[in-house]
Order: sequence, then C-alpha cells, then structure tokens
Amino acid sequence: MEYFVKSGSPEKQRVACIIVGIFDRRSPTEAAEKIDKVSDGAIGAVMRRGDMDGKLGSTLILHNVAGSFADRVMLVGLGRERNFDEAAFRKVQAAAARALRQTGAIDAVSYLTHLALKGRDYQWNVAQALLATEDVFYRFDDCRGAKAREDISAAKLERYTFDVPRRSDLPAGERGLKESLATAKGVKLAKDLGNLPGNICTPSYLAEQARKLATQLPIKTRILEKADMEKLGMGSLLSVAKGSSEPPKLIIMEYLKGPKNEKPIALVGKGLTFDAGGISIKPAAKMDEMKFDMCGGASVFGTLTAIAELKLPINVVGVVAASENLINGEANKPGDVVTSMSGITIEILNTDAEGRLILCDALTYVEQTYEPSFCVDMATLTGACVVALGSVATGLFSNTPALARALLGAGEQSGDRAWELPMWSDYDDNIKSECADIANIATRGAGEAGATIGAVFLHRFTRKMKWAHLDIAGTAWVGKKSTGRPVPMLVQYLLNVAAKKHD
Ligand code: BES
Ligand code: MN
Ligand code: ZN
Repeated sequence: MEYFVKSGSPEKQRVACIIVGIFDRRSPTEAAEKIDKVSDGAIGAVMRRGDMDGKLGSTLILHNVAGSFADRVMLVGLGRERNFDEAAFRKVQAAAARALRQTGAIDAVSYLTHLALKGRDYQWNVAQALLATEDVFYRFDDCRGAKAREDISAAKLERYTFDVPRRSDLPAGERGLKESLATAKGVKLAKDLGNLPGNICTPSYLAEQARKLATQLPIKTRILEKADMEKLGMGSLLSVAKGSSEPPKLIIMEYLKGPKNEKPIALVGKGLTFDAGGISIKPAAKMDEMKFDMCGGASVFGTLTAIAELKLPINVVGVVAASENLINGEANKPGDVVTSMSGITIEILNTDAEGRLILCDALTYVEQTYEPSFCVDMATLTGACVVALGSVATGLFSNTPALARALLGAGEQSGDRAWELPMWSDYDDNIKSECADIANIATRGAGEAGATIGAVFLHRFTRKMKWAHLDIAGTAWVGKKSTGRPVPMLVQYLLNVAAKKHD
C-alpha cells in the first residue's frame, strides 16, 4: 500500500471511499457536514434514524451518497468531543482501517487526520494514523501452507491518503508520513521476527538476518561465535547456551552515520529464541509463547532498519544476545556458579532467569568495546513486569534521570509508552548470594518486586554507562501476536537525539 498526504475538500474526492468523523450526540465534524450539505442531509438522516450515534470506534459505510464523487462514505464515531484524546485518536484510525479492509475499495481519503489535539500537529496526526493503519493491515502468513496462502485474500486498498486542513499543513504532514513509514518498516520487521516459530527463528537465523540487513542498508554486521565468546570470557551467556545444541550468537550491527569521534548510542536486545526455562522448567501452558522471548533483539533489528532508512546522522550500535534456553545433559543446574565477562561471579538459583544471564555479558561487551554515550537494553525479562503494568506500558529502569526522561517522552510522543519503576540501591541486598558475588534471582523478599530485581541484577554490569533497561515482557506481544514494540519509542528517541544535534 502507498500513503499520501494532501489537502482537499471532502465532497470533491473522486475515490472509492472517503472517511469522515462524527462525535456523539450526533455532532458531525466539518468534513461530515460538508458531505451532509452536498447530499441534502444524507448524513443527518442516517444519524436521526439511529444508525450512527457517534460512539467511539463505531463505523458505518454509506454507498452512492448523492452529491459526493466517492463510491463510499465511511462515518466513524469519535465519542464525546471533550473526551477525545490521543488514545481515542489512535482508536478511530484503527477502526477506520479495519472497516476499510473489509471493503473492496482500492483508494481512500481520510479526514480523521484533521482532528486536532492539544500539543499535537499534523505531523503527529499523520504519523499516528499511518502507524495505526499499518498495525491493522499487518498479517503474518509465512507459516501457512502453499494452498492456504493462495486462498488468503490480500487487502485491496492500494492508496490511502491522509488529508490535512490547509495547504500550509502539507510539509508537516509529509514529515509525519516519512518518519512513520520508516518506523512502520521497522515495526514490521520486528513483528515478523517475533512471530516466527522457535524452530525457524534460531540464533543462527537471527545472525543470518543481520548479515542480510548489512547488504540492504548502511549497516555493518559482525557475529561473535561461541569460540569468540569463550575467548572473551562470557561464562554467563555461554552457560545458558550450552543447554541447547543450537549455537549462540552475539550479533553486532553498527550504523555509524554521525560524527566520527562521537561515541555511539548502544541498543542491546535479549534474543532468547526459545525459553523453556531450562531445568527450572516452565509449565506447559502458554510455553509456546516463549518463542517471543527474542522480541528485545527483534526491536534492535527494527530500530536500526528505521533509522538507516531515515539516514539519521547519528552513531548507533545494536547488539543482540541470541541463545536458546533448553535442557540437555550440559544445561545449567540450580546452584551452579558461573563467571561473567566482567569477572562478577553469579550463582544460578533459577535457570529460568536466563535473560539477565545472557544480557549481562552483552552489556559488559558493549561497555568495554564502545564506551557508549548511552546504552538502552530491551528484554522480555520478567513475568512480574506483566503483573505490574500489563500490556499497556513497558517497564523502564535507569541510572540516568535525563535518559529516563528522554525515553518516557519518546514513548508519550509515539504512543508506545513506558512507565518508570524504581531501582534504588536499597534493593541490592536482595540478590546477595551465599557463595558467589550475586545470585540470579532474589535471595530475600522472594517473589517481591520481580521486575526491579531483574533491573538491579543488570545494573551490576552497567555501572560505567548511562543506561536504561526496558522490560517489554508485557508489551512485546499480546495474545499470540508480536506488537513490534518498543520500536516506535526507540525510533522516536533517536529522532529526537538527531534533531537536538541540528540546533
Ligand atoms: N522470558 C521470561 C519472562 C517472561 C515470562 C516474559 C512470561 C513474558 C511472559 C524470563 O526468562 C523468565 O522466565 N523470568 C522469570 C524470572 C524469575 C525466575 C525470577 C519469571 O519472570 O518468572
Ligand atoms: Mn526464562
Ligand atoms: Zn526468558
């Protein structure tokens, strides 16, 4: 599908569908009023009959509306006008896209991008509309058989135009289009990788994809193999990997388009391609969902794709720690002690707390190799974070308030939000070990503050960096579908970093 931005009157659009909004209490938007006028009250009549009451997210498609050149007029309920907020904005864009997908329309013009919100401009409106639409149109059918794939009816829509009120709003709209198209491409890659099953999306597969990215974008890829990790002393990461016959990979992708002497921003992702829990095995129910345990890594792929597409003048390195967490005769056992690359020894009291075991070595590698200006890790780290925040907000932890603020702000801006949880040193004692430097789970206050404990563990390995940890356990997938989060937040963050450098 192709997207456009333009500015034109609704009644003059010669397309398969135009989309206009109706607030509840039968209060039409300006665009809806214009159609009502040329059609001698067609829309007013529909509202009086009670077929469209303006309820938030409801839709109704009218055909052959007199006076309009469009084949269809879609009415979209916007809810109460004074309650119309950013969440409602996204909701109505998605509702329109869902209804549109059900039609045979090949082109459409939406006036839902006119809807003004406090503090938001048409760049934001267009970007959010596009991202919401792409979310609705996304399908993952790669794993269906050839026959089924033939039967899948592709979306008919080919051209989708977002209208803005004035010609002078066009540049803002175009910027929104460009940025969100790049973001959407990154989100799609993250979703595709996330949705792939564990037997296909292995650490080796991810490494291959990273090599492929390097052929398509100005990205340099390097893969550290098991032998390289052994040389570096990554005893923690390797201890997780040795429970499986799939070899681990430390995937490094460099995008260096900023000033030569400028330290990069590092993005580090948990790429655990299947988490059975190891000897501390998980229950069978929903274990299939642990194929999504590499979504942090997938978000590194997606974010780098988006910023390379946008040619942002910044230095970013993406690192994905890729491994499986299975059980064989060599697998970690509760009570084992391993030595991490940093020299810190770890008592593994629960083999299912493996994310922190692979990330700690990746973080040490990044700290020592790049001395990054900022480091952000993304990980489906704890079930406790899902309990705390559900699927609405990502958990954020940071040792640098300015970085936390920047990420929280980017989350608000992109609608891909995070919420900060504490990581005070008061929690440090919780991971004290009887025999090693630290334990990989809480040794006191068991079961309490689980998301924080994960962050506190990682913080032991990031003392020399300005660092933030994003626990995406609740947000990276919902139901059985990858969301592509937190790619929008990260891309927005990097857009903001790049913009600041310009002025
Ligand atoms: N990948 C899981 C976390 C997870 C669980 C994400 C459920 C999404 C949904 C992680 O490796 C894990 O197993 N964490 C343990 C940690 C515990 C043993 C301290 C958890 O959350 O139960
Ligand atoms: Mn686990
Ligand atoms: Zn895991």
